[in-house]
Amino acid sequence: MNIILLGPPGAGKGTQARRLVEERGMVQLSTGDMLRAAKSSGTEMGKQVAAVMERGDLVTDEIVIGLIAEQLDQGAGEKGIIFDGFPRTLAQADALGELLAARGSKLDAVVEMKVDADALVSRITGRFTCDNCGEVYHDTTKPLSVEGKCDKCGGTSFTRRADDTEEALRNRLMVYYRDTAPLIGYYYAHKSLRSIDGLGEIEEVAGRVKSALAS
Ligand code: AP5
Ligand code: ZN
Repeated sequence: MNIILLGPPGAGKGTQARRLVEERGMVQLSTGDMLRAAKSSGTEMGKQVAAVMERGDLVTDEIVIGLIAEQLDQGAGEKGIIFDGFPRTLAQADALGELLAARGSKLDAVVEMKVDADALVSRITGRFTCDNCGEVYHDTTKPLSVEGKCDKCGGTSFTRRADDTEEALRNRLMVYYRDTAPLIGYYYAHKSLRSIDGLGEIEEVAGRVKSALAS
């Protein structure tokens, strides 16, 4: 089963994607994670996108479509793929349909996670990530069980994202509503859209994702 998790910054796409990976053995393809990896390993492309990401603007369609095509060519996702943070423009959505069709595959569902702007701000400004395993935490809604130690891997070093400032977030939200929200209509027209309430406990939202995928 190939699915898209669609929603604004902080909607919980990454959090729910990681659960689906653990529970179902699906593969998570996050263009945000791929771009951050390119940035931290200092590749040419990483250097090129760093400032764009820090502002909260979109990287070019060409770059992100290339990243996804590369993963699909390497055979990602026999048990299904979760597209997280991709597609983000109509051109990316068209490209994804074509990339999957060319490989004899297709998209099965698009889960739209709805969260209001106030909740997004507090989610994003409280987020931090384990440097070792990538587990995502939150100061109040998902704190560490033991101070200073990752629950998953015992790691002791954590990072806050450069684009998780209030200013960058304002821009990311504007960009989401301008460039990405039109995909809701696009996938509604393709009959693959399932919208869920993304507010509530992580566990509760996971239950809604599960029901949406079963429907
Ligand atoms: P990307 O990395 O994709 O960021 P994003 O879409 O802004 O989404 P986030 O990762 O911020 O949020 P999320 O929905 O995954 O939330 P999370 O689960 O972490 O993109 C970053 C940048 O890369 C873009 O701005 C752009 O520059 C570039 N880029 C990436 N893809 C691109 C593309 N396709 N085209 C062009 N450019 C692209 O949760 C957030 C926090 O809330 C966490 O702390 C979590 O613990 C907490 N939380 C989660 N669920 C709940 C809950 N139910 N209740 C309470 N707290 C919760
Ligand atoms: Zn960890």
